Amino acid sequence: MSAPVLLLYATVSGNAEALAHAAAAALGARGRRCAVENAADFPAGRLREFDVALVIASTWGEGELPPEAAEFGAALAAPALRLDALRFAVLALGSRSYRDFCAGGRRIDELLAARGARRLLPRRECDTKFKTDFKEWLGQVEVALASSA
Ligand SMILES: Cc1cc2nc3c(=O)[nH]c(=O)nc-3n(C[C@H](O)[C@H](O)[C@H](O)COP(=O)(O)O)c2cc1C
Repeated sequence: MSAPVLLLYATVSGNAEALAHAAAAALGARGRRCAVENAADFPAGRLREFDVALVIASTWGEGELPPEAAEFGAALAAPALRLDALRFAVLALGSRSYRDFCAGGRRIDELLAARGARRLLPRRECDTKFKTDFKEWLGQVEVALASSA
């Protein structure tokens, strides 16, 4: 059996977590097995267990990943980690009231690509009202998964 779709979130106040669970529920309703994981306790090497990773990450501090996900970000920066078999899409949460808009999600997106993983979709960056972005992103993910299944 193929691996489940990974929904990996990096959060402080829970938005990314809620969206990861909502995405898993929506994809699950369409027959896709999903696994939801928190980057705070997810070793980056485990990405090799999956074919598809959907990452929802917020930005905190001054353009940083949520502090609990910092270790995951650092591990993803190791050139020895190769993720050539992985396809991914990143939904970045942030607020345009900050200078480094969505920098945390951007960092994850760039690091995954640097590790050899291939984008299913371009990164989507969301301001604080992210409902519509999320719906559209998820629709695009479903189309991309269906056309590359
Ligand atoms: C103290 C604080 C710092 C933040 N820093 C940034 C930032 O540097 N860049 C950005 O785009 N958004 C920033 N945000 C906005 C959050 O990323 C945004 O509210 C997001 O939806 C939070 O998602 P989460 O609940 O999954 O952590 C910040 C929010 C707070 C409260």
